[in-house]
Amino acid sequence: MDRRFFLKSATAAACVGGLGGWARTAGAANANTDATAITLTTGESKASLLGSDYPTTDVWSFNGQIPGLPIRVKHGQALSVDVRNGLSVPTSVHWHGIRLPNDMDGVAGLTQEAILPGKSFRYHFTPPDAGTFWYHSHVNAYEQVGRGLYGPLIIEEADAPEVDRDLVWMIDDWRLMKDASISDDFGAMHDLTHGGRVGNVSTVNGRVGDTVKVRTGERLRLRLINAANARVFRLNFDGLNPVVIAIDGQPVKPYPANGTMLIGPAGRLDVILDMTGDPGSSTVVIDNAYRDAFELVRFAYDTKPLRENLLDSEIALAAARVPEPDLQNAVSQEVIVAGGAMGGLSRAKLGSQWQSLRDIAQQGYVWAINDVVADRLTMPPLLSVPRGTTVKLEMENRTAFPHPMHLHGFHMKVLSIDGQPQADPRWVDSPLLLPRQKMVFAFVADNPGDWLLHCHALEHHVAGLGAIVQVS
Ligand code: C2O
Ligand code: CU
Repeated sequence: MDRRFFLKSATAAACVGGLGGWARTAGAANANTDATAITLTTGESKASLLGSDYPTTDVWSFNGQIPGLPIRVKHGQALSVDVRNGLSVPTSVHWHGIRLPNDMDGVAGLTQEAILPGKSFRYHFTPPDAGTFWYHSHVNAYEQVGRGLYGPLIIEEADAPEVDRDLVWMIDDWRLMKDASISDDFGAMHDLTHGGRVGNVSTVNGRVGDTVKVRTGERLRLRLINAANARVFRLNFDGLNPVVIAIDGQPVKPYPANGTMLIGPAGRLDVILDMTGDPGSSTVVIDNAYRDAFELVRFAYDTKPLRENLLDSEIALAAARVPEPDLQNAVSQEVIVAGGAMGGLSRAKLGSQWQSLRDIAQQGYVWAINDVVADRLTMPPLLSVPRGTTVKLEMENRTAFPHPMHLHGFHMKVLSIDGQPQADPRWVDSPLLLPRQKMVFAFVADNPGDWLLHCHALEHHVAGLGAIVQVS
């Protein structure tokens, strides 16, 4: 892929409405259960990632679209989702960030059998939290998510802040060949050992360099979801002042992002954005996390303002409903992440045997948590606690790469970062643990089952960076 695509995005013709609002509810109420009934069908399809001047890309998708069918329901609404597998390989669907019953969590081999080609599986649950979530395949995710098997899952607050538009931006990157096909080097050793599969083209809602029409004075709610295998995005909103109101789907005390926001794989940020540019002007949203900065989206202002004075209504969301940890009686567990290139790991346990890193690498693994390599779910649990226990996870990154550490089934309260206690409560499910960083989290293990804790740089997960938290 040459640089034209990056550069082209700076001058792409306006694609009006490409990033516009989606249908409020993608489904019909089911008379018997009152649940919103949705069918997601996986299959091969084509996507115009680069726009109409370029060839289409063969992708794997939900319901033939990238991102997959948007699911948007009101808080309190039950969901019943029939997943039909139209691919020639097994799959499953994980509802990222939703605190749901373990057998609905979608981890093939742990919480359910994989859905075989031609078969289907019905997921049913009532999301307990309003907020910005997403769904994605959880079978060989490093390949299936990389080929496009993901979509947004939005649970609307009963009492949402007043905005002019509520937009979802699913941000992803792709490793494309010159003919716009997906490079099929999934699981390449260099990606496993370094920063994961980082692509050469970034898209928002499956399109490169889109233009969003806005009006001066307009207030947007942007729901940013990082669906990339491994890319960290650093978004720069050039002269605008985005205010963060939720992280990983959970409300935070609103704070200004000072124009730039880091968002790790699987992470979500909800921001309120007042469009303060001049009528008729345009500004760009840039990603500059890596060496090549490029334009993700261009805001083009209408020549007529929407209003003279910005809205000043309340933007804070109602507080999170996650159970408060009981820190006095917490069980503490270290989570030491080690391995990878320049990581200094010399040996680790794989299949209960101590082995040299060299031998481990020959079997496709290069990462470990507490010296244990996650061997396709057969490793012993990292931790086993009775239901209701407050767990304190003391994570430390002893590697040269960032790791977005995702805990299934729970939201964790951030207690400290590098020894600094955190003043305002923040609940996260996919915190980005930077190289050499230490973060301490706490959560109430109130939901029984075997839950995955893993790096959401998907190449790191498949190469051993995972563990199981068992709640009985
Ligand atoms: Cu978003 Cu184990 O996954
Ligand atoms: Cu990682």
